[in-house]
Amino acid sequence: MREGSPLYWLPRAHAWWILDYSGCAQLMQDGRLGKADLLPADVPDARRGSLLMSDPPAHTRLRALVNRGFVPSVLEHLRPRITALASTLLAPAAACGRLDLVADYASPLPAMVIAELLGVPADDHEQFRGWADAIIRGLDPTQPAAAVRAHHEAEAALHAYFTRLLPRLRAQPGPDLLSALIGAEASGDRLSRDELLSMAMVLLVAGFETTVNLLSTGMLTLLHHPETSARLRREPQRWPAAVEELLRLEPPVQFVQRVVREPVQLHRQLLESGSKVILVVGAANRDPAVFSDPDHLDLDRHPNPHLSFSRGVHYCLGAPLARLEAQIALRALLDQLPSVRLDPDRPPTWSGNLAVRGLRELPLRV
Ligand code: HEM
Repeated sequence: MREGSPLYWLPRAHAWWILDYSGCAQLMQDGRLGKADLLPADVPDARRGSLLMSDPPAHTRLRALVNRGFVPSVLEHLRPRITALASTLLAPAAACGRLDLVADYASPLPAMVIAELLGVPADDHEQFRGWADAIIRGLDPTQPAAAVRAHHEAEAALHAYFTRLLPRLRAQPGPDLLSALIGAEASGDRLSRDELLSMAMVLLVAGFETTVNLLSTGMLTLLHHPETSARLRREPQRWPAAVEELLRLEPPVQFVQRVVREPVQLHRQLLESGSKVILVVGAANRDPAVFSDPDHLDLDRHPNPHLSFSRGVHYCLGAPLARLEAQIALRALLDQLPSVRLDPDRPPTWSGNLAVRGLRELPLRV
């Protein structure tokens, strides 16, 4: 499709689909497009004001405040926890000879990390996962109305949960991000209670399923490339480059959306105010105008300016954490399970979510 044209009008989605790298990168960084107008009019105010769905200047203020909480010490606190958890989760697999990578590893690991990040007790992780799944599914524009209803119910349940959690963290702050945000002030400003609630929800939704998918699709890609896996075992210093390349080839967020606020010209086409645009990261990351041999997994690709964490003011806040998690977790898998391979009797299955793409099951033998 990209060779035919870099952009298409899709009447069913009532949106422009942008498929080339330069178009996606340009529109991600263009202040004439915004996100707030993506929400339907009946959405509650709490969600309307969130970091993920607001535009400058409201977004600029929230981002400055949350940056104060996302300090290096929060990440450093998580590093040994991620390493230890990866080993604990892999131990039973080594003993019994098989694992479902999604259920046994790729899901529990980021769930625990995001829960620790937010100061949530371990007993509640499973419940979280259910809510986060329902919320993510409802974001897919192709899902039926029932999924949208489930999305709103899960959002309400999660909101109620955080309402109970915040006073506990205020009374007894921990080394977590929410405790840091409760105390964070920027230029005499601080987050209100509603803004803290909204921020907690955004961090969970934005940081959980995305990382699950990076771990599972990343592992599937490595299993299809045994020569690359062997090289990574020999040259562990290549892991950061490997994670960037896995992000490029299988972006967990396949597209990001914007609404045109002032008319914009793209590739001689006028995008009028009010039109929706869908920036297809999955296609941009394989644009041969920027990436040579784009379908090939190349550990030596440099530079690797993929768009998997977006660009511009909404650039992924959790990118350093996602990178850290993937580098530790995928390396632990290859190193601790030297004969890991696909299960010949049970092929992988995909979740079917168009927006946040990933595997439902990845059965492995070890
Ligand atoms: C592989 C994992 C991840 C991927 C692929 C990913 C991808 C993205 C993308 C594409 C956006 C921008 C959306 C847009 O431009 O409209 C974004 C924003 C965001 N991400 Fe991530 N993300 C990941 C992990 C995380 C983690 C672990 C966290 C938090 C702990 C996180 C927190 C956020 C937040 C808060 C935003 C909103 C930033 C803003 O609007 O200013 N993400 N992410």
